Amino acid sequence: MRISVIGCGYLGAVHASAMAELGHEVIGIDVDERKIAALAAGRPSFFEPGLPEILASATETGRLRFSTDIADAADAQVHFLAVGTPQTAGSSAADVSYVDAAFAALLPHLAEDAIVVGKSTVPVGTAARLAGRLAEEAPHASLAWNPEFLREGFAVKDTLEPDRLVYGVAEGDRHAASVLDQIYRAALEAGTPRIVTDYATAELVKVAANAFLATKISFINAMSEIADATGADVTALADALGHDARIGRRFLNAGVGFGGGCLPKDIRAFTARAEELGRGEALAFLKEVDAINLRQRQRVVDLAVLALGGSVHRKKIAVLGVTFKPDSDDVRDSPALDVAVLLKGLGADVVATDPEGIENARARHPQLDYTTSSREALHDADLVVLVTEWREYRALDPDATGRLVAGRRIIDGRNVLDPVAWRAAGWDYRGLGRP
Ligand SMILES: NC(=O)c1ccc[n+]([C@@H]2O[C@H](COP(=O)([O-])OP(=O)(O)OC[C@H]3O[C@@H](n4cnc5c(N)ncnc54)[C@H](O)[C@@H]3O)[C@@H](O)[C@H]2O)c1
Repeated sequence: MRISVIGCGYLGAVHASAMAELGHEVIGIDVDERKIAALAAGRPSFFEPGLPEILASATETGRLRFSTDIADAADAQVHFLAVGTPQTAGSSAADVSYVDAAFAALLPHLAEDAIVVGKSTVPVGTAARLAGRLAEEAPHASLAWNPEFLREGFAVKDTLEPDRLVYGVAEGDRHAASVLDQIYRAALEAGTPRIVTDYATAELVKVAANAFLATKISFINAMSEIADATGADVTALADALGHDARIGRRFLNAGVGFGGGCLPKDIRAFTARAEELGRGEALAFLKEVDAINLRQRQRVVDLAVLALGGSVHRKKIAVLGVTFKPDSDDVRDSPALDVAVLLKGLGADVVATDPEGIENARARHPQLDYTTSSREALHDADLVVLVTEWREYRALDPDATGRLVAGRRIIDGRNVLDPVAWRAAGWDYRGLGRP
């Protein structure tokens, strides 16, 4: 199939490369010239495991091209919209202006029978609104909504082997579903479940999934607050809860909480949309989910103050991790980076380190000191704060690390270290909800 992918960020660049990997002819479009120049040269503009390989092989075959000119997408039969939908400044609603702009720019270039497929996460009702515009301005074309569930760090695998496919289509539109089936043939043949539904349901599946995941994380973080007050162990609690198949163990790790370019803004946008629909009460609990999550960042800072005897002023603190999760360079709404900034604000000499995220972190918070070397960050530190669970931080040896620092104090903001081993090596170890 001839495909265009409009918006080549974390989602779009992976989607475009993966579609080319599947044998489709793909053009990636973005308004960001630097991003497009890098992608066209076979270099991803961000860190994502496995992406360099499929991007390079697809650009070499000529099946994958990039352009800043949307007119170059005119040949495509299917256009995926993958532009950003960030939180609107000063409000919790999603900013859909990028979707609207990309859609408007695409309209004059739509071929006969073209299909526009939304991938961006949008407020429910967006697809119906765009479909209305399409009916007026390009009645030969149709619209589908195909939400994306990829996880950064696993984006290539998740795109090639999704756990489900959801198509939101107009009533009676069999054509769009059958074209999407052709695009995703490999996944469907491998048994991937596929749900064909209406626009509103497809849009809601995405935000409902993120709302559920966010709730699960905030639930266990709330339990960790109670564990702290009672001397209970939230990790053992989560293990025991997780054995109940109705609950499951995943996403029950207490810690500094969720972040990134999706979960936080998606639950806020969902709440805002529910309020617009006059159903604010139904999602009022998501505000609490958000509040619990944000509180975790302050809890880690409070623990740091406690560990240093009441003040972090002029103390060297090694912050391990700046990205919102490991195997990504994404620092959007990163709890790790927030903790570093809060500690700096209290007068600490913060040195933050991360395998991939420093460039992005520095662009947002140039006031922090950064190093790519965790040894350098740890050198002479009075306190270590682990906030992103990169493999290399999980694997730190308590004895060897102890020889680098000035004081053996560690806050495990992700509850990933073994408290027994660290304490045995003489460390003052503190986790969240761990006795
Ligand atoms: N990142 C994820 O893990 C993920 C997962 C699932 C869904 N999503 C959703 O996918 C969408 C994109 O997210 P992202 O993380 O890739 O964002 P991103 O900011 O990394 O990428 C968006 C891209 O769109 C480009 N863009 C903006 N306006 C444009 C226009 N008019 N024409 C062409 N390009 C334009 C930007 O330059 C940018 O490169 C969002 O709605 C997000 O919620 C993201």
